Amino acid sequence: MLASLLSFLSVIARKFTPESIMSAQRERTFIAVKPDGVQRGLVGEIIKRFEAKGFKLAGMKFMKASEELLKQHYIDLADKPFYPGLCKYMASGPLVAMCWEGTGVVKTARVMMGETRPADSKPGTIRGDFCIEVGRNIIHGSDSIESANKEIALWFRPEELTSWTQANDSWIYESNE
Ligand SMILES: *[C@@H]1O[C@H](CO)[C@@H](O)[C@H](O)[C@H]1NC(C)=O
Repeated sequence: MLASLLSFLSVIARKFTPESIMSAQRERTFIAVKPDGVQRGLVGEIIKRFEAKGFKLAGMKFMKASEELLKQHYIDLADKPFYPGLCKYMASGPLVAMCWEGTGVVKTARVMMGETRPADSKPGTIRGDFCIEVGRNIIHGSDSIESANKEIALWFRPEELTSWTQANDSWIYESNE
């Protein structure tokens, strides 16, 4: 009796709780298809892999990034000799900036991308399949949850990110925590 009352109440509660409150936001990461990936026509291929995996797109824009933005993005590498060249390469053409969401997405995206050096990347990973040199490694992904949060805030205004429920969510996740 009590159990059925409780389950009735939880059904009512769900029905009247806004979606944004009900589905606690999962982890997010920042992914960019670099200018070489765009020039080589790999945007669709890369998005396809993240979609097929089950991750959810929360934001995306096609843009030419300013050198100031890129300098900020790579600020941790500012004392490296390759820093100016890296910023120049990233500013050399349009790129696709994306925010992807899902449980463990920061780490899993890194696994899907392969190693920073394409030569160390296994076949089946994005870099393992599509590129050869570290300076033309076609994709960026945040290396930790902390840098993901920083990078998302740097590349996207809050209103450029969208919360939504994937139709197949309950077939991708066992529980909707
Ligand atoms: C989600 O459902 C659509 C439509 O059935 C399907 O095409 C897509 O591959 C599914 N996505 C995942 C990650 O299973």
